Amino acid sequence: KVFPDKFSASKRVAHRIADIINFKSSKGENAVLGLATGQTPVEVYAELVRMHREEGLSFKNVITFNLDEYYPMNPTSAQSYVAFMKHHLFDHVDIRPENINIPDGTLNKDEIHDYCLKYENRITEAGGMDIQILGIGRTGHIGFNEPGSAPNSGTRLVTLDDLTRSDASREFGGKENVPTKAITMGIGTIFKAREIMLLAWNKKKAPIIKRAVEEKMSGDVPATYLQMSENVEFILDEDAASEL
Ligand code: GLP
Repeated sequence: KVFPDKFSASKRVAHRIADIINFKSSKGENAVLGLATGQTPVEVYAELVRMHREEGLSFKNVITFNLDEYYPMNPTSAQSYVAFMKHHLFDHVDIRPENINIPDGTLNKDEIHDYCLKYENRITEAGGMDIQILGIGRTGHIGFNEPGSAPNSGTRLVTLDDLTRSDASREFGGKENVPTKAITMGIGTIFKAREIMLLAWNKKKAPIIKRAVEEKMSGDVPATYLQMSENVEFILDEDAASEL
C-alpha cells in the first residue's frame, strides 16, 4: 500500500494497532504487539501516544515484544532500544512494565542461548503476536536478521553487517562505537505473528524495497522471505515505492 507521505501511512498503521487493542480488550483478552525501533516507526508511536492522551486508548491489556537490541548494551544507555521505546512510547502510555519484553543486552555470552529460548517461549505463551511491525535495513534485514539468515531462524545472537553499522554510526557518534552484535528475533519468530506490516519511507529505502518485493526469495535479502506469507503488508510512502 502506497501512501502520499509517512504521516498518513503511520496513521493507518497506528489505527490498525488501536483496533486490535480495542477488539482484544472488548473480549477481556491481551493484545500482543511485536514492535520495531529505528526512525521509521516513530510517527506510529507518536500517533498511539496521541490516541492514548486524547481518545483514551489504553495499553493496560497490551503485551509487547521488541524485535531486537544491540549486544552488548546497557538499557540505561541513550542508544539502547530500551531507551528508544521508553522515549517514544512506553513512558507516555499506561502499559504495565511487566508486559514489556525487549531482548536483554546485558547478559553474559554463556547465558544468551537459554535466554533466547525463553524469549521464544514467552512469545508462544502470550499466544503469539497479533501484529508485528517491521522496518527494513538497507541490507534487507528485518529485525537484525542480516543476509544469510535462515527463514526458520529463532531469537539469537547475530553479527551486524558493515552497512548496518555504518547506518547506525550517527547515533553512536562514530561507527567504531556501534556494537558488532545484536540479539534479534528470528525470521521464524516474526512469522509467528498473525499479521505483519513492514514500513518504509524515503528514497534511501527505494532500492531495497524493490529487491524485497521483486527479487526471488533468498537469504541474500532476508525481507524477501516475507513473500511466503499471505498476512504481510508493505506500507510505503511514494519515495520508498518509487522503484517498484
Ligand atoms: C535497525 C533496526 C531495524 C530497523 C532498521 C531500519 O537496524 N534493528 O529493526 O528496521 O534499523 O532503521 P530506520 O527505521 O532508522 O531506517
